[in-house]
Amino acid sequence: MVDATSINRVVTFWEFGGPEVLHLEQQPLAEPGPGEVRVRMAFAGLNPVDYKIRRGGPQYGTQLPSTLGRELSGVVESTGAEVERLAVGDPVFGSIPVGAFADAVIVPEANMAFVPDDLPMDVAGALALAGQTAWDALASQGIRRGDTIVVSAAAGGVGGILAQLAVHAGARVIGSASRGNHAWLRARGVEPVEYGQGFADSVRALIDSVPTAAFDLHGAESVEAFLGLGIPAVRINSNAMGAAVPAGVQRVGRGAPNVDTLGTLAAMVVDGAVEVPIAGRYRLEQVRDAFELLEGQHLRGKVVVSGND
Ligand SMILES: NC(=O)c1ccc[n+]([C@@H]2O[C@H](COP(=O)([O-])OP(=O)(O)OC[C@H]3O[C@@H](n4cnc5c(N)ncnc54)[C@H](OP(=O)(O)O)[C@@H]3O)[C@@H](O)[C@H]2O)c1
Repeated sequence: MVDATSINRVVTFWEFGGPEVLHLEQQPLAEPGPGEVRVRMAFAGLNPVDYKIRRGGPQYGTQLPSTLGRELSGVVESTGAEVERLAVGDPVFGSIPVGAFADAVIVPEANMAFVPDDLPMDVAGALALAGQTAWDALASQGIRRGDTIVVSAAAGGVGGILAQLAVHAGARVIGSASRGNHAWLRARGVEPVEYGQGFADSVRALIDSVPTAAFDLHGAESVEAFLGLGIPAVRINSNAMGAAVPAGVQRVGRGAPNVDTLGTLAAMVVDGAVEVPIAGRYRLEQVRDAFELLEGQHLRGKVVVSGND
């Protein structure tokens, strides 16, 4: 007889395409190797990179069949050799190269930070990838008090965190979002403007000088608008554009996983400096629905799936 506790449900796809290519497969539970731990997944966050991979983006070189999911929270249930910092029972969160959409996930110990008391596990599961991207992008431009910055897609996964981190650093922050997200942005200290045709004029109406820097989380039209505002290319950072960025525009994304950064981000969420709204929670078996929500492109914060912990 098969022991149910030795079976792992893993989101898998055998062909590239839309959410319909995703299936929940049953696989034997794997044991962690040296420097690894096995985490019983509580929540795993969805990110645009997941659907870019699922659609077969050539830059990812994905071999089929493949799994998905780059960030998670959960509880350590098994430790491999040479694991020193983490122990069975520890609540942890972090990012991994792939495979977070599963009931149990083997992860490098080095990628995982502790979930502090008072940080909800769903938020922890959605924090590592977008949070560290926002942190590293913002740090690359040295944003501080006195800066006035513009952020596109400021209510999205990365933009929402980046805008709040910049407010916390003392910068004046103008962020683009659709009207339904404006009240939330205002409550978080961000001055909202609508994106689209009137975007640059709306920014000019708020300030009479050139913004000191800009962060793009949507794509080419935002970068064009930033350049049109007179922001020097080297003070524009785009996480959303691919290789074809205009000359000089920076593309600093998330660096190597950093548990100190994750710890700081988690503490900022707990003390209220950063809010990460959860736009949708789904069970692992509803992963296709979770992607439909994410790929609708108009959400505030993050979408998560939960395992059967
Ligand atoms: N290089 C890296 O390390 C890295 C890491 C993470 C993400 N990324 C990339 O960064 C980008 C943003 O990621 P994310 O997780 O923040 O995405 P996301 O959460 O899916 O972004 C959704 C947001 O996009 C906004 N939006 C939709 N249409 C827009 C438009 N025409 N102009 C401006 N904003 C628009 C929506 O605003 P409303 O809801 O207000 O309409 C929504 O809040 C993606 O391309 C992702 O792949 C790169």
